[in-house]
Amino acid sequence: MFSLNELRRPVIAAPMAGGVSVPELVIAAADAGGLGFLAAGYKSVDDVLAQAHRVRMASGDPFGVNLFMPGAPANLDAASAYRGRLAGLAVELGVELPEPYEDDDAFDAKCAALWDAPVPVVSFTFGCPGADVIRRFRQAGTFTIATVTSVDEAAQATASGVDALVVQGPEAGGHRGTFDAHATPPTQPLDALLLAVRAATDLPLIAAGGLGTASAIAEALRTVAAVQLGTAFVDADEAGTSPVHRRALHDPRFIETALTRAFSGRVARALRNDFIDAYGPDAPPEYPALNQLTGPLRKAAAQSGDAEIVALWAGTSWRTTQTASVATILDNLL
Ligand SMILES: Cc1cc2nc3c(=O)[nH]c(=O)nc-3n(C[C@H](O)[C@H](O)[C@H](O)COP(=O)(O)O)c2cc1C
Repeated sequence: MFSLNELRRPVIAAPMAGGVSVPELVIAAADAGGLGFLAAGYKSVDDVLAQAHRVRMASGDPFGVNLFMPGAPANLDAASAYRGRLAGLAVELGVELPEPYEDDDAFDAKCAALWDAPVPVVSFTFGCPGADVIRRFRQAGTFTIATVTSVDEAAQATASGVDALVVQGPEAGGHRGTFDAHATPPTQPLDALLLAVRAATDLPLIAAGGLGTASAIAEALRTVAAVQLGTAFVDADEAGTSPVHRRALHDPRFIETALTRAFSGRVARALRNDFIDAYGPDAPPEYPALNQLTGPLRKAAAQSGDAEIVALWAGTSWRTTQTASVATILDNLL
């Protein structure tokens, strides 16, 4: 079975759903001595298997697949009210908003597919499955990692039998992995959270959130087995990131990141733009219903290059994001 110790470089290229983590990024991370991750979130089972197949064909190195844990059903009435708030913008952009619906991201089917065609590593975010599911992955020879944002979540994941934890601080770009979508994610900074989690579990820890410089990474690696970097790879040559997202990371018009539920209903960190300011304050915590609703708006805006309506996921260290190959980015960060 995979072990974090076998990595030539203790760096994980974070799974980034929504098109960033394409097979090329995963292969490049492995070639550079780290661990790459496919992002299964929002994808069909067939697309996940096809991407895993492409990575296997191109590289003999280990890689991971990240799964979204389903949570409690969304309140569709609250989501429908939000749909009403977005109606004017939908008319402006000439798009139709869907009616919100229940969606568990095909979690069970993705697990079953990965038991049939195992991958070296699987990680979970938005929750951690029970011991029975983790046992099945172990029987398939798969190393399992849970994303946690608090000591309680770390204890729960440890009890389920996972092999390692990604400890995600509030500095992180993209969604917080907080188990309960309705809860306010903890605000304890990554370094303090790591200390608290270290005292609560013996599992290997992987630090994630706001690590964008060589000194921050070196400091984190004094206490953890590896770091997981997302924002650092969003503008990598091999990433599948949209042009509008890439440009925004270097656009002086964006001066800060913000935590918002505006795009998906779950708390996530992105470059602060007009959409966050207009819709964030009263976005209900109904994931994934809000993600469905804003999808056509985000897509239309990305196509027309309008960065003010796109989810520009970015961590607090976004200003250090390099436009370069994965290998060069890693050379500069380690
Ligand atoms: C564009 C983007 C997409 C992300 N998508 C996922 C995802 O699909 N699954 C996941 O577990 N984490 C996801 N994350 C969070 C990362 O796993 C990681 O926690 C975060 O990027 C670390 O903080 P940093 O961006 O400051 O390096 C995403 C992050 C970004 C920036």
